[in-house]
Amino acid sequence: MKKKILIIGSGGREHAISWKLKQSPRVGKLFIAPGNYGTSQIGENESLDITNHKEIINFCKSEKIDLVVVTPDDPLAAGLVNDLKKARIRAFGPTREAAQIEASKVYAKKLMQRAGVPTARFKSFSDFKKALVFLKTQKFPCVLKASGLALGKGVTIAKNILEAQKVLEEVMVKKVFGAAGRSVVIEEYLEGAEISIHAFCDGKSTVLFPSSQDHKQIHEGDNGPNTGGMGTIAPVPWVSAKLLREIKTTIVEPILATLKKEGREFKGILYPGLMITKDGPKVLEFNARFGDPETQSYMRLLKSDLYEIFESCIDGTLEKTKISWRKNSACCIVLASNGYPASSTKGIPITGLDKLNRSQKIVVFHAGTKLVSDKLVTNGGRVLGVAAVGATLNQALRAAYGAIKKIHFAGMQYRRDIGRRKLSFPT
Ligand SMILES: Nc1ncnc2c1ncn2[C@@H]1O[C@H](COP(=O)(O)OP(=O)(O)O)[C@@H](O)[C@H]1O
Ligand SMILES: [Mg+2]
Repeated sequence: MKKKILIIGSGGREHAISWKLKQSPRVGKLFIAPGNYGTSQIGENESLDITNHKEIINFCKSEKIDLVVVTPDDPLAAGLVNDLKKARIRAFGPTREAAQIEASKVYAKKLMQRAGVPTARFKSFSDFKKALVFLKTQKFPCVLKASGLALGKGVTIAKNILEAQKVLEEVMVKKVFGAAGRSVVIEEYLEGAEISIHAFCDGKSTVLFPSSQDHKQIHEGDNGPNTGGMGTIAPVPWVSAKLLREIKTTIVEPILATLKKEGREFKGILYPGLMITKDGPKVLEFNARFGDPETQSYMRLLKSDLYEIFESCIDGTLEKTKISWRKNSACCIVLASNGYPASSTKGIPITGLDKLNRSQKIVVFHAGTKLVSDKLVTNGGRVLGVAAVGATLNQALRAAYGAIKKIHFAGMQYRRDIGRRKLSFPT
């Protein structure tokens, strides 16, 4: 019997996961809640309220869902995986307890200390006055982080004490991020090159993906405000097999072992953001899920059956599962709507997707898209992700940028310098 799967989420990441799962001979019908236009071409979109666990459980029971893939941070932090398990529904993703590694930066920093994992020096505070006193002893730039989930806006690199004080007050007193700012981490600024690592985890063992790199800022040259991510490459050309092994043994494995020892076995995707400094890799943060848009590049490279891997993570049989990747390079260039990241324009017609060659090289993953009276229109900040593969990174980039020339919507923004950073291993 082919498996019926429900995927929770609506981004480019969820489109990429659906696209990949659909290729598995073991997968039958896919449901995506709430999904986007891209996912509706692969499976059936369901307008479920993903904060209502009862509603999701009822849907799973009536549709006889075999597996739920919980991807976004909020439902993981809210314990959707716990509640599905309690209802005897199989789910891929960490429990609320394990997902705390992302949902609380204070928890993650203390966990890293216990596990002996390299990270920036820090102190955490839930008292504004004490935080302020400490801040005055710091060197600048200095990094301030709201502890909770803050839609990627909770981190400030403060250039001086005045800026730091202002941000601290906004976070802890004015509570601009609500409860996410109840406690803060104040940490040392790390210099180096930033990469993303993803690891399949089954609670005991782990298999790392190839390395990847996101481009967070809206403008070329890494300028302007941070976004959800404007483009990714994988693998990162200068990340060696030796560095990946070091990351596995000094970061991912000790974290998983400590989580297990403390009764929070981690099953799912562990995604550390790392700074590669002159003293080696150091953790900036942990995410407890697939990255967006890292996943769009990764799904182009993964050769193995994603469904089988999900099963082995849940069953604790990852060690016996062979996971192989194409030897190619991949990239994903995000096309964002006018005004993003501050705002976004919706309902703008998108044209040109039909002009793309149906070659193996290009897959366009949808994020903020919608069909309105048979016309594809924008429906959010990040609209599309053009994901390409090539024998080399340059070939992948050329293919992606070639395809983008044919795609149009009014106010379309994208970075022309994805994968072009001069920056490499710091010495
Ligand atoms: N200690 C640090 N030193 C230098 N840059 C940092 C540091 N911590 C975070 N950053 C930068 O800020 C960004 C956001 O921080 P991160 O901890 O990943 O939080 P989030 O993704 O939840 O916003 C990182 O991608 C990195 O570029
Ligand atoms: Mg981050």
